[in-house]
Amino acid sequence: MKICLLPGDGIGPEIMAEAVRVLRALDLDCTMEEALLGGGAVDATGDPYPEATQRLAQAADAVLLGAVGGPQWDALPRALRPERGLLAIRQQLGLFANLRPAILYPELANASTLKSEVVAGLDILIVRELTGDIYFGQPRGIETRDVDGRQERFGFNTMHYSESEIRRILRVAFEAARKRSGRLCSVDKMNVLETTQLWRDVAIETAADYPDVVLSHMLVDNAAMQLVRNPKQFDVIVTGNMFGDILSDEAAMLTGSIGMLPSASLDANNKGMYEPCHGSAPDIAGQGIANPLATILSAAMMLRYTFARHDAAQRIENAVKKVLGQGYRTADIHEPGMRQVGTREMGDAVLAALQVEC
Ligand code: NAI
Ligand code: MG
Repeated sequence: MKICLLPGDGIGPEIMAEAVRVLRALDLDCTMEEALLGGGAVDATGDPYPEATQRLAQAADAVLLGAVGGPQWDALPRALRPERGLLAIRQQLGLFANLRPAILYPELANASTLKSEVVAGLDILIVRELTGDIYFGQPRGIETRDVDGRQERFGFNTMHYSESEIRRILRVAFEAARKRSGRLCSVDKMNVLETTQLWRDVAIETAADYPDVVLSHMLVDNAAMQLVRNPKQFDVIVTGNMFGDILSDEAAMLTGSIGMLPSASLDANNKGMYEPCHGSAPDIAGQGIANPLATILSAAMMLRYTFARHDAAQRIENAVKKVLGQGYRTADIHEPGMRQVGTREMGDAVLAALQVEC
């Protein structure tokens, strides 16, 4: 088990340290090596995804990432921005399947801004295609063009998907649905966009291989609405890169706590990159108050999806539930009457919960 650690910027190193302590405590037979990605990498090498990092990431079975970016790099040209590093690694490793569970832990029932009866018990999974769609399509750009006889700026992007790109992400989603409730909702905009008409056609074709999964379809605007109206009608949602970007953030917020949400991005062989859904939180970086649980839960997803160590993953997830039950809360999920702790103490609590269990 070769793991590449990319702590990144802002709170990245603080939350990564806790996830690493948890992994070490499990006594797995793994090696962990650290490298630079994002703003820190730009500062040190002039490249948000330096070659040494590329070599390490390509040689590893899995990558665990903190977060990248921060205001000090916002003025850089697009090619040098920390986020470029993130896009580059996803593309280079072929991480086309982004899995984002949105789970509302009963202990955090009041964290959501939605009524508790709407979100109580929420446990859904968004499967987002990550390496295609309008985010990568060519041609793209901003040019000065002739528009009705006037010279003005003109912006353009291209949405496209091949049949095989659609089919492989749908298979990931069908497999996930099969292991859960057996319900899959495919989200598109087939009434307007040809690319997503193809998406729907391929979804219907692929369903023939999964007779045990009930496939439904929804237009993306309605899906956005249904997610806040009645999110529990969904189990697994699958969609393209752009719609998935938006819907997965929306779904994340149903749980009210960005500091709790892990994610996995997988290639065709279950090699993967695992990271919390949140960013580098520059507003609280260096203060030791960030919530490390999203990163710790990302490490659990890594054990589950890349290494098939379901036992170890389950132990981490149980430990997280246990510390929430014990009342440990970082500032982002704190409520009156609970025990407010910092990043390190939350890590300590998870370690203690793990030890009790074994
Ligand atoms: P953010 O997710 O970093 O922060 C949003 C809010 O949530 C802030 O108030 C922050 O303090 C809080 N927060 C985030 N994670 C937390 C945690 N673990 N514990 C407690 N509170 C937490 O999003 P924002 O502010 O829009 O972006 C900050 C930087 O992060 C930007 O440079 C952005 O580009 C980058 N970013 C990086 C991502 C990545 O590396 N995958 C994803 C999203 C943003
Ligand atoms: Mg996003």
